[in-house]
Amino acid sequence: TWTPDSFVESTVAALQEKVGNDKVVLGLSGGVDSTVAAVLLHKAIGKNLYCIFVNNGLLRKNEFESVLAQYEGMGLNVKGVDASQRFLEKLAGLSDPEAKRKAIGNTFIDVFDDEAHQITDVKWLAQGTIYPDVIESVSVNGGPSATIKSHHNVGGLPDFMKLKIVEPLRMIFKDEVRRVGATLGIDPELLGRHPFPGPGLAIRILGDITAEKVRILQEVDAIFINGLKADGLYDKVWQAGAILLPVNSVGVMGDERTYEKVVALRAVESTDGMTADWVDLPYQFLQKTSNTIINQVKGVNRVVYDISSKPPATIEWE
Ligand code: XMP
Repeated sequence: TWTPDSFVESTVAALQEKVGNDKVVLGLSGGVDSTVAAVLLHKAIGKNLYCIFVNNGLLRKNEFESVLAQYEGMGLNVKGVDASQRFLEKLAGLSDPEAKRKAIGNTFIDVFDDEAHQITDVKWLAQGTIYPDVIESVSVNGGPSATIKSHHNVGGLPDFMKLKIVEPLRMIFKDEVRRVGATLGIDPELLGRHPFPGPGLAIRILGDITAEKVRILQEVDAIFINGLKADGLYDKVWQAGAILLPVNSVGVMGDERTYEKVVALRAVESTDGMTADWVDLPYQFLQKTSNTIINQVKGVNRVVYDISSKPPATIEWE
């Protein structure tokens, strides 16, 4: 019978057999799959696993610093690359959701390729692909292959895409990945994290993206997510986040008329993201969260809650 321990034992042995003394590069995202894949490989080949964690500037507030510190604490050979500026420049002036996704995908590939070139004689690319990604030709978390083709079809594939592929999780499901992660001693908080889209806050800032909008949304999102955790609601929700709307609304602050941004909060229940129901969060929680956001986040004067389910609404607004 399948157990996390037997899986770890046999996978580590198989990885050692397959990879030998070769160097392997892996992109960490802060998510469950890439983290568990990294820890498994690290157990098998130690410092020959080179991890790269890219800050695209569109992560949650303080996420890059705190997750990088966590990775280092786990003993991983990890390089944090702050490419925020590079991503922001590529996104400047773009407001179409697919154009934003493409810019982010292409920039990620360029940054990752630059970093992979710094590792002499790397032979393998490791990925946190899990079984559902394998069986669905297009995974929920949107594989980058379409983007890669459109960007690199003239000059050919980026070099790291030509490496041999190793995918230690490709035969198991998400819940099994979490159990394997637990057996490997990975922090339960990291293993229980909500899914977060690759393009990050870029697809939760409707319209064009600026550093100031990212900052506003990071503040709002942090108040919402920390509030869910503080009130024991985080683990009851499959995914949650905030959306910065491209409209201003009139408000009043003291004797002053304000004309500021509107944010929407979204929390859904789901099993795989294919369908989703909006979560009936307690009114008291919503009231407290709304007050805190409006009082603390400069530039926001109105908060709304998204009560749409999927289908027909999608989880993200873009
Ligand atoms: P939708 O909005 O399609 O989202 O209902 C379903 C799930 O997919 C995530 N999502 C993405 N993940 N790149 C990703 O890695 C993307 O471009 C992307 N778009 C949506 C979304 O967060 C949800 O979990």
